[in-house]
Amino acid sequence: MAEPVRVGVLISGRGSNLLALAEHRRRDPERPYAIVLAASNVPEARGLVLAKRLAVPSWTQSHKGLERAEFDRLLEAALVERRVELVALAGYMRLLSREFVERWRGRILNIHPSLLPLHKGLDTHRRALLAGDLEAGCSVHLVTPELDDGPVIAQARVRIHARDTPQSLEERVLAEEHKLYPLVLAAYAEALRAGAVDAAPLPGPALP
Ligand code: GRF
Repeated sequence: MAEPVRVGVLISGRGSNLLALAEHRRRDPERPYAIVLAASNVPEARGLVLAKRLAVPSWTQSHKGLERAEFDRLLEAALVERRVELVALAGYMRLLSREFVERWRGRILNIHPSLLPLHKGLDTHRRALLAGDLEAGCSVHLVTPELDDGPVIAQARVRIHARDTPQSLEERVLAEEHKLYPLVLAAYAEALRAGAVDAAPLPGPALP
């Protein structure tokens, strides 16, 4: 069996998707990915506590007071040190710099709680309800420099009920996220290993 693809998960908060990705891998050690780092721009993120419980190494650095590109260079150094090959954004509430996204082209996935291209950005469930949508859902997509804009790889859908609130909708969509993301990450990792996706060469260690 080929070596699993080394994944770094980027979080800013709760970390329920990190947990889902890690649990799927734990239940099936033959999965083509292994989570080797949880990185956060929010030192007090609850997801970091989960990472510790899961025995996933973590890295954190507040972005406050740092230029975006400067922060992303520190982040990249942490990823390179753990020999990360694929980055999974999971509730990472920060736009990545263009330089970072270009250096990791084809190697960054994100999960977004809407049926993209609908409702990019925040507050997706409230906006789906206000728009009168009949369906909501989540999308896993490749990350490009523009927010929630890269090619969609897969989506899961739920029906919107008349009595839904943003909270009830979020619960149902989140349950779908936890099923969809591990499947897509596994499929993408396999394709990456097989050389079947267009991805930039791995960034090396920073020059002294
Ligand atoms: C999820 O809804 C995800 O789709 C969005 O941010 C939320 C993160 O939740 N990008 P969690 O931190 O994984 O629990």
